[in-house]
Amino acid sequence: MPILDHFGFIAPYYDRVFKPGNRDDLITLAALPVEGMVLDAGGGTGRIAQFLRNQAAQVVVADLSFEMLTQAQAKDGLLTACSHTEWMPFEDQCFERIIMIDALHHVCHQGETAQELWRLVKPGGRIVIEEPDVRTWGVKLLALGEKVLGMRSHFLAPPAIAGLFDESAQVRIERKGAISWVIVEKPGE
Ligand SMILES: C[S@@+](CC[C@H](N)C(=O)[O-])C[C@H]1O[C@@H](n2cnc3c(N)ncnc32)[C@H](O)[C@@H]1O
Repeated sequence: MPILDHFGFIAPYYDRVFKPGNRDDLITLAALPVEGMVLDAGGGTGRIAQFLRNQAAQVVVADLSFEMLTQAQAKDGLLTACSHTEWMPFEDQCFERIIMIDALHHVCHQGETAQELWRLVKPGGRIVIEEPDVRTWGVKLLALGEKVLGMRSHFLAPPAIAGLFDESAQVRIERKGAISWVIVEKPGE
């Protein structure tokens, strides 16, 4: 447990500090729109999820921080679940797509989180994990800064993230500047 609740503290200001930017890359990589449900794991304030509402039948934001989720609840049309990403209160294979943006390095158990995302995604579905790429110098500095702030961040390079998934997963890695995406497809039945 970190000494400070960083996300609880920053939640009311989060969307003003961290602008969502253009999310066309994410929409393309996640192969949206879909008819089913999308999960934003570690989705915080719904900063990104709010732009996906017209891309799926339902968008669910799951996050550990009640304060971050309170911000997501203020946005129309998002469902929220206060939950660890290591165990989420959903049935097997109920999401067409799962996104996880800038959150994997914050969770305690990254392997368990990957297994949980794999459990929840439908056959033929897709998981997209977006992370600052720790192979770049800027992100190495960011990682140091988060350590100084007492955050329990643990950055993994994209190939290590890919390695967390089931061996039947079809995985590819994309990168733009300091951002990388690990795209994980679950074979159809
Ligand atoms: C940097 S924020 C990113 C939020 C959102 N994905 C975005 O891009 O705006 C990281 C989020 O991960 C959440 N988080 C950290 N550990 C978690 C865990 N084990 N389970 C669920 N959420 C977690 C935090 O509460 C926080 O909202």
